[in-house]
Amino acid sequence: MFRSHTCGELRLADSGKVVTLAGWVQRLRKMGGMTFVDIRDRYGITQLVFNTEVNAELCELANHLGREYVIQAKGMVSERSSKNVNILTGEIEIIVSELNILNAAQTPPFTIEDNTDGGDDLRMKYRYLDLRRTTVRKNLELRHRMTMEVRRYLDSKGFLEVETPMLIGSTPEGARDFVVPLRMNPGQFYALPQSPQTLKQLLMVSGFDRYFQIVKCFRDEDLRADRQPEFIQIDCEMSFVEQEDIIQMFEGMAKHLFKELRGVELTEPFQRMPWADAMKYYGSDKPDLRFGMKFVELMDVLKGYGFSVFDNAAYIGGICAEGAAHYTRKQLAQLTEFVKRPQIGAKGMVYARIEADGNVKSSVDKFYSQEVLQQMKEAFDAKPGDLILILSGDDVMKTRKQLCELRLEMGNQLGLRDKNKFACLWVVDFPMFEWSEEEGRLMAMHHPFTHPKDEDIPLLDTNPAAVRADAYDMVVNGVEVGGGSIRIHDSALQEKMFEILGFTPEKAQEQFGFLMNAFKFGAPPHGGLAYGLDRWVSLFAGLDSIRDCIAFPKNNSGRDVMLDAPGILDQKQLDELNLVVQIKKEER
Ligand code: AMO
Repeated sequence: MFRSHTCGELRLADSGKVVTLAGWVQRLRKMGGMTFVDIRDRYGITQLVFNTEVNAELCELANHLGREYVIQAKGMVSERSSKNVNILTGEIEIIVSELNILNAAQTPPFTIEDNTDGGDDLRMKYRYLDLRRTTVRKNLELRHRMTMEVRRYLDSKGFLEVETPMLIGSTPEGARDFVVPLRMNPGQFYALPQSPQTLKQLLMVSGFDRYFQIVKCFRDEDLRADRQPEFIQIDCEMSFVEQEDIIQMFEGMAKHLFKELRGVELTEPFQRMPWADAMKYYGSDKPDLRFGMKFVELMDVLKGYGFSVFDNAAYIGGICAEGAAHYTRKQLAQLTEFVKRPQIGAKGMVYARIEADGNVKSSVDKFYSQEVLQQMKEAFDAKPGDLILILSGDDVMKTRKQLCELRLEMGNQLGLRDKNKFACLWVVDFPMFEWSEEEGRLMAMHHPFTHPKDEDIPLLDTNPAAVRADAYDMVVNGVEVGGGSIRIHDSALQEKMFEILGFTPEKAQEQFGFLMNAFKFGAPPHGGLAYGLDRWVSLFAGLDSIRDCIAFPKNNSGRDVMLDAPGILDQKQLDELNLVVQIKKEER
């Protein structure tokens, strides 16, 4: 028997028991003739004691232990004289009578402590050591509990977990595919799924009725804090449902998860916001509703007074930061610099303070009378002590997005984005299409299998850009945690959709013939949704990046620095795959 107990298990009530523990050396302290060794495993830390007067040889062996040695220790549980209230085993220690070194260890490249001295890159390279740290491991424990709860909830609702293949054809989800060459078919490639979208729809055609899968998805896209090239979806699909049924089912699941994993009871129905309102009032399709600062449009109020920046603008809008009139000139200059950063791209920022007497003092006072400024104050319903920040621009959507960045920054600066507060909503009524400058054509905003709103179907022929989709996203604290739609189940409508998206009938047949054919064999009305598991876990754990809840994540440039992947292939492997690698000059 390697061990009788774990390192997190023993309490005062166990005093007098002879036990055997196994684990890693966390730290070692020598005091007089005594040596104290903290032994650690996944479950906790226990103090081992060696006394040179009792057993000099054993104490000498302990003195030669190094950090992260793997050891086994047998001894008697005894009450500690100086107790450690910070750990659950802090009232006891083990008076060791036998010590075995199971494996020596090199000194780790960083300390395995909650507050480690290791930088990001080093910890990514030695991720298996980083995972020994309690803080990181806790995130994975939460992840485990989350998948268990997801399965429990969905099983109780009659969902069947079905696995779908990883080696498939292209699935358009708006990102680029990762592709896999193969030996047997020279010149042909599999694509890794961006999601199991079409496959889950086929399962509905098969009559599975309620499907789910906790599934790896792969997307070659620009990385951000909430994006990884491979990530996990909780992918779901249901037959004979309307949008309302899906929203109810998955709002129920979100509430279940909040309760089980965070102890938060959300009793009210989640707010629903049409996409157009989300853009108008928050400049984002994933508004963070933990705080206010809703946009106020000021075209009617501030245009036509000789301030050319506003007079020539297609959009003027602002936010009111409650109680922030104390912002200094320097702070306001920094905010102006913030919105002018190339990633945001505003030309400048106008501000106005509401003074104690109710007067408005602005950075553009010379163009506006106090009367007009008071009208502006009323538009915001601003109070003395408030600060108004205004942006304008010649492109409505772009300016709203800039104002969104400013709003989020003010939320950060004023401490309004509390990680222990949760604001959940559904964004609904998305546009069916968006114009892609890059492609020069309409693209599906969600994906090409999304059903248009019934009342908007006639617009497909006359004004496709105005068509709204039966699509919905769930947003929590400004993060899109999931999204889905009612699907097209009629092959003629699906064909029409591909046509609007610029597919020739041949290309549509080649890429999606399997789906359109399946629809001819009795496809039920269906719809579904996919939640991003990594995003949920990082939200529950209060993390800044989803990387921290993934055991072996990729770094910011999409590399696995631990495995040193991706890498080049041997000539022999390339030959087997019938591949010749020719790298374009500019990328060498
Ligand atoms: P969508 O593309 O919106 O929908 O993805 C669903 C959810 O997956 C998460 N997600 C990601 N998480 C981490 N890294 C990424 N790169 C990443 N990309 C997406 C998000 C997102 O809300 N097939 C449809 C779903 C459906 O219609 O049923 C789909 O994939 O949380």
